[in-house]
Amino acid sequence: MTYLITGGAGFVGSHVVDTLLRRGERVVCLDNFTNYYDPARKRRNIAWATQQPGYTLVEADLRDAEAMEGVFATHRPTRVAHLAAMPGPRPSIANPSLYEAVNVGGSVRVLELARRYAVEGFVMASTSSVYGKTEKLPFEESDRTDRPLSPYAATKKAAEVLAYTFHSLYSLPVSVVRFFTVYGPRGRPDMTPYLFVDKMVRGQPFVLFNGGINLFRDYTYVDDIVAGVVAALDRPMGYEIFNLGNANPVEMRRFVGLLEQITGYVAQIESQPLPATEPPITFANTEKAARLLGFAPTTAVEVGLARFWEWYKAEVLPA
Ligand SMILES: NC(=O)c1ccc[n+]([C@@H]2O[C@H](COP(=O)([O-])OP(=O)(O)OC[C@H]3O[C@@H](n4cnc5c(N)ncnc54)[C@H](O)[C@@H]3O)[C@@H](O)[C@H]2O)c1
Repeated sequence: MTYLITGGAGFVGSHVVDTLLRRGERVVCLDNFTNYYDPARKRRNIAWATQQPGYTLVEADLRDAEAMEGVFATHRPTRVAHLAAMPGPRPSIANPSLYEAVNVGGSVRVLELARRYAVEGFVMASTSSVYGKTEKLPFEESDRTDRPLSPYAATKKAAEVLAYTFHSLYSLPVSVVRFFTVYGPRGRPDMTPYLFVDKMVRGQPFVLFNGGINLFRDYTYVDDIVAGVVAALDRPMGYEIFNLGNANPVEMRRFVGLLEQITGYVAQIESQPLPATEPPITFANTEKAARLLGFAPTTAVEVGLARFWEWYKAEVLPA
């Protein structure tokens, strides 16, 4: 069995790759090392993987039709986890066409190749952002998702819908996994907790929407997310959508308090109103993922943040 992981040098993707390699699989990691954040960080993410016998790195762009065809023709992947994307709701406002080209056009390209090369299982990363500003809690997969608050969320929703079409036309087994705010070692520098901790250790202020009051995020530790992705790879179904979240939203004010306790640094908070791209709460109902994937997140936010801090001290602080 050969696994193709797009975005395999990124935060979540590199952990998925490592997990599959540890269990002895053949893994093709595809990534274009885009400079959304420092590509050197992605090189470090794959340092261990590149030493493993089952690993192949392909530096290619989803938008490059010829290169992508070559990847499928050469490696004939049996299962695909499509995680490559332009991330981030707020940055997507400045460049919606780029998000559309990568997240929609790129996803269609991978779906089309997957069906032509008879891939047996296709897992695609989506996001809790597709739920927008829904007032119904917790978020269920069947909830309305046609009011995305950012171009990013809209492109992820479009990719979900297109994946359904590929399933319907060609019986491609697709599992869409909607991640809820992922954090942990190798975390993205544009996301919390990295962003906040970086400012705290430098004694600089950072923006916290609403001062963190009445603002909740369902922080999910990366190992728990990876377990869900791998379970979805292992159990191809028809077309299913799964929430992968911790089902335990944390108020942001408490989140920052935990960071202060764990790191010993003081947060200088600059409160700003919540931007239109941000919902006041994310909260996953994970019953479906539990039932069909055996998904059972086990990492409490205190534990996950302590692990993040250990990683940050070892890998980021010395630089
Ligand atoms: N981290 C989160 O909290 C979160 C939440 C919801 C959804 N997601 C989704 O999970 C997936 C992984 O996110 P992440 O946080 O690991 O982000 P990341 O930016 O660390 O990883 C994405 C990877 O995709 C690669 N990539 C981007 N454009 C590409 C292109 N055109 N061709 C080839 N590779 C390309 C990047 O270089 C990067 O390594 C994404 O689909 C993202 O939308 C993440």
